[in-house]
Amino acid sequence: MSTQAIGLFDSGVGGTSIWKEIHKLLPYENTIYLADSANAPYGQKSKEEIIHLSEKNTEFLLEKNVKIIVVACNTATTNAIKELRSKYQIPFIGIEPAIKPAALNSQTQTIGILATKGTINSELFSKAVQSHKNVKIIEQIGHNLVPLIENGMIESAEMRELLKIYLNPMIEQNIDYLVLGCSHYPYLIPVIKEILPTHIQIIDSGEAVAKQTRNVLEQNNLLVSDQKPTLTFYTNKNGIVLKSLLNSSEAVIIEQNF
Ligand code: SIN
Repeated sequence: MSTQAIGLFDSGVGGTSIWKEIHKLLPYENTIYLADSANAPYGQKSKEEIIHLSEKNTEFLLEKNVKIIVVACNTATTNAIKELRSKYQIPFIGIEPAIKPAALNSQTQTIGILATKGTINSELFSKAVQSHKNVKIIEQIGHNLVPLIENGMIESAEMRELLKIYLNPMIEQNIDYLVLGCSHYPYLIPVIKEILPTHIQIIDSGEAVAKQTRNVLEQNNLLVSDQKPTLTFYTNKNGIVLKSLLNSSEAVIIEQNF
């Protein structure tokens, strides 16, 4: 057992979709979340920049003495997790798009994936796509979706327009699964549901990441069983959007430069 916190980082507010699943599954665990919103979006940056920022975020969390780090960002996972694992001793949990369950269950043999440019262009993502040759995979970069989410414009007309542009070609090609390959995108599910026909399933990786985090903590005897947790969120930008997405009276939000 260890009362040290679970550390999480993301390019901004989106990884809180992962944090929510972890907090639901592991409600006694202390958590420390870092939102690097000042540097969002990561999806447009080079691999080198993403590795640099991911190392900086990791070192911030290590200074807070966390026991595990969840890379709650698909772009950082696909571009930097290998480097993080080889440089630091702590266990890392990454997120990858849920291609496997979609490919296994698709009846139309056609699935869509919405992700950032950085994720779609990564080696890890290409390998995942190539290992599912039984289905047609339609990849779509979600240009500008993350900046709109970071600015609290989830329900905006601009967001609806962009989503229609990205999703309509997938609907025309008869997808029956839409995989959300960015931890920001689960916040778009209500808007996406207005556009997609009801038979198309939407899947993200939040629950699987939470289960994987629990398994790794359990294997290392690091789970806590009963305590009132502290839930701390650091952000290097105005915390209003973070606060509204968390909607939790227990969350302590600290704005500072890092
Ligand atoms: C981004 O910062 O571009 C999105 C992060 C992600 O891929 O989850």
